[in-house]
Amino acid sequence: MSDSVENDKTGGNKLSETKLAEHKTAEKPKEYETGPIGLDIGTTNIVVARNRAGGSPATMKQLNAFFAIPKSKLTAKILSQNDIMYFARNGQFYIIGNSAEEFANTFNTETRRPIESGLISPREDDGLNVIQALIKSLLQPPKKQGEPVCFSIPGEPIDGNSSVLYHESIIKRALDTMGYSSISINEGFAVVLSELSGENYTGLGVSMGGGMCNVCLSYLSVPVFSFSIRKGGDYIDSMVGKTVGEPATLIKTIKEKEFSLLREPANKIETSLQIYYKELITYLVHSIQQVMASSDRMPRLGKPVPIVLSGGTATSAGVKELFEKSLKGTRLPIQISGVKVASDPLNTTARGALAMAVSEEN
Ligand SMILES: Nc1ncnc2c1ncn2[C@@H]1O[C@H](COP(=O)(O)OP(=O)(O)OP(=O)(O)O)[C@@H](O)[C@H]1O
Ligand SMILES: [Mg+2]
Repeated sequence: MSDSVENDKTGGNKLSETKLAEHKTAEKPKEYETGPIGLDIGTTNIVVARNRAGGSPATMKQLNAFFAIPKSKLTAKILSQNDIMYFARNGQFYIIGNSAEEFANTFNTETRRPIESGLISPREDDGLNVIQALIKSLLQPPKKQGEPVCFSIPGEPIDGNSSVLYHESIIKRALDTMGYSSISINEGFAVVLSELSGENYTGLGVSMGGGMCNVCLSYLSVPVFSFSIRKGGDYIDSMVGKTVGEPATLIKTIKEKEFSLLREPANKIETSLQIYYKELITYLVHSIQQVMASSDRMPRLGKPVPIVLSGGTATSAGVKELFEKSLKGTRLPIQISGVKVASDPLNTTARGALAMAVSEEN
């Protein structure tokens, strides 16, 4: 795969030497360059979490996206001058990370994604190069061989026949090749580790992301079951876009900036957003019920357990209320003590993965 990466004249001819100018908005690792790492490779974002002395974990993220443009010497110079991350391949420059979205918006088109609905596509060769390049932009090679990295993987999807194994193996190989010692963690379980220490890691961790929703029920830090549905924020954007005849990217921007599920919709887009949020949450809660009903591993819990919602899609005002409403109309085999939204929803999975990496090291 990296054999076909071309010399871009500003770097080498292998991916590991590819020019990866740090985007100007990207934070740079400074005082937390060593020690265990939590890594969340999501459909929308790649997030790294590391401990730093005397504070909460530091997180850095890049958009998991790319945008291909024709290769030229002049463009190479301009991209480098503007600290835009890219690499050259097959006669094109691949702009990666946050800059890719700026380019796509400027050209009034969409970015391409290495991961679709939570999983790396075995058919998308470019995607693997992009993910590797993005990981390298966020994680320098380890100072010591075998430094621990814990990366998140989705639960097996209940809707569709895709497997998580290929996705997991590819990411593990990329990290191990960099000199890390990698282990994986289920995304829903990472949410439990990040948010439910006060409840002895007992409860339901839910991550509502861009491509998926992931769920894990944990009892005293033991995962009971986990699964995913291949619908999330992207599904809402694309369905609303189709309904109102606007690009999904525009819907995403509106959804992230101005939207609330708690007030009356002001226009067609908001009406449509409310409809598809409701559809997604109803489907998610129904899936939780179905999986619990069919699981032969359901523990007999003495007391009600909490649900934590995390992920970017849980950040819209009113998601918690909609989830609670849907839960009220659903009979679950366990009692729920309450629903809360994680304190830092976009970084929860990476923080949980970090907690796992730390516990594995000790
Ligand atoms: N302020 C916001 N309001 C509403 N939605 C948001 C906001 N910020 C981000 N999102 C949405 O959250 C989603 C991305 O969330 P997240 O980063 O948790 O996903 P991911 O982990 O990359 O994807 P996945 O776990 O599905 O593979 C996108 O659909 C994005 O539009
Ligand atoms: Mg996620």
